[in-house]
Amino acid sequence: MAEIYQYSVAILIGVAIFGALLGLLRLQHSRKMRSAKGLIRKLEGTAVPVVGTEELPEKALQDGEILPLRPSLYGIPYLAWIITSLVIPSVFLILFFENLTDPYSPPAAQSEAWIAYRAPAAFEFRGKQVPRHQLLIPKGTLVTDADRSLVQEALRNRERVRPESVLGTLLIVTIFTLILLYHTNFLYPRSTEKNKNLILIYLMILVVLVCAKASLFYEVFSPYLIPVPWAGLMITVLINRRIVPLIMLITLIFVSLASQFDFGLFLVLLSGGLVSGSWVRQARRRSELMAASFMVGLVMVFVYLCELVLTGGGLGDAFPNAVAALTNGIIAALLTLIFLPVIERLFDFTSPFRLMELLDLNVPVLKDLFFKAPGTYQHSLAVANISENVANEIGANGLLVRVGAYYHDIGKMFRPEYFIENQMAGENLHEELGLVASAAVLRSHVTMGVQLARKIGLPGAVEDFIPQHHGTSTIDYFYFKSKELESEIKSERVFKYPGPKPQSKETAIVMIVDSCEAACRLLESRDDETVRNLVSRIVNRKMEQGELDHSGLTIGELKKIEDTVTHVLKSTGHQRIAYPSDSGSTQEGDSQESSLRVVRRRGAPEKQSSG
Ligand SMILES: [Fe+2]
Ligand SMILES: [Fe+2]
Repeated sequence: MAEIYQYSVAILIGVAIFGALLGLLRLQHSRKMRSAKGLIRKLEGTAVPVVGTEELPEKALQDGEILPLRPSLYGIPYLAWIITSLVIPSVFLILFFENLTDPYSPPAAQSEAWIAYRAPAAFEFRGKQVPRHQLLIPKGTLVTDADRSLVQEALRNRERVRPESVLGTLLIVTIFTLILLYHTNFLYPRSTEKNKNLILIYLMILVVLVCAKASLFYEVFSPYLIPVPWAGLMITVLINRRIVPLIMLITLIFVSLASQFDFGLFLVLLSGGLVSGSWVRQARRRSELMAASFMVGLVMVFVYLCELVLTGGGLGDAFPNAVAALTNGIIAALLTLIFLPVIERLFDFTSPFRLMELLDLNVPVLKDLFFKAPGTYQHSLAVANISENVANEIGANGLLVRVGAYYHDIGKMFRPEYFIENQMAGENLHEELGLVASAAVLRSHVTMGVQLARKIGLPGAVEDFIPQHHGTSTIDYFYFKSKELESEIKSERVFKYPGPKPQSKETAIVMIVDSCEAACRLLESRDDETVRNLVSRIVNRKMEQGELDHSGLTIGELKKIEDTVTHVLKSTGHQRIAYPSDSGSTQEGDSQESSLRVVRRRGAPEKQSSG
């Protein structure tokens, strides 16, 4: 009883520490979001200075440079191998835990066994052969003197494991771990773009395996409670549901090694893992996750009963196991909701629930954007609506795209008056600026946006949209104008956005839609052909410039994107300024709108060539 008491105290302390940590994280997050106003004011002081008609020295531009982007801890491919080489022995240690250290102390005679006592290794006792993992004392029975000496003998022999069993297990673990590594890296490159995904996958496998060991060896809880559905849910919500079946299969192969290949258990847990991966596809709210996990529980019970009928097992023992299977499904959602905030913070993951919070237009940053740069706010909403449709069309993450589009231009709130969508008719502040200064102001909406995103704690996946929606594209108008004027500034870099180029399909979609939406406002008519030509010119130009090289978009997907963007843009219509249709170039991005306006004001020719 003393042990149960000690364990209970340990669990309580653990839960208390965990709860406190969780509370602190939430508190810190909400404080950051609340204090957004103050942070914005502070950043305003550091905004790129506008110095009238004088050209800014190149040095001043580089001060706001944001390359390299976020310092990455997991950037190198070798790391995947290092992590894997740590995981293989870890799985082995968990599987052979009872042989490496005393798994339990011999129970006192005449006491009740509070765990099941099993033989760590095969041994001989009073002329009888006792196989490995044979039950010595069932859980909950009264321990006799004979039981006690049996356990003592088992412990004396715990290290005597057959070498072929060690070698076989090690080989199976190595082969399947390498298969997992291969598939996650090559078949699902996007899932393991960052090694943190691989770490999360391994972490889930190890946690499930420790639980399997506690359940199968000590019978602490029913094996139908092994949290495989929870692992499936976590990976679905945080990484990608397409990768779930493979991970579930390999996790369960390891669990099978611990359960002496119990195929019935394998089937029930596999059904839970697979269903959790497919049912929560659309879960954007916590209630949907709860409903989905209830269905997971029901499917597990159904598979368990089918397996029982098939193998001719008695229905008498079925009830406790069926209840355990149902509970397993239900607690999967609860555990997911408890662990999500911690994992999100630790590894900088972004769950759909966090994204849903960021979609709230009452978030202080978006409210501020609305008041300071109403035109940019409207533009962001339009880009978000179109981009989400496009993303859903090609199977990318529509929710992430929508959130990314909401925040992609937040940096414009520092100098809203320099972007045409916020200008009153007839005003143009770029007239007073030199070319380099104008380019610097445009560039600064990216650098300032990233700084603001970091200050208010936007998730990395959302922050990525800010620098990547312009990639390393050139601010063409000012660049070509400076060439035309044979200006002293020869460096193209002065007229380039800092990058990086879009690193995912999602950011590439926002890059394309951002440019198309801005350019389309200048069209005179929005008939199918005009819009289609404009969109395909923009996409081609992005491809020529190599901006889409790292996005992972295929030619087929680009075609689909063109079709969807054309379809949406031609059916939403308001016109503003005539677009010079034969300029031989595309007006790219929101910033290029300003360029066009500048051309008009300065009385430059209508048909300008911006590259
Ligand atoms: Fe922008
Ligand atoms: Fe934009």
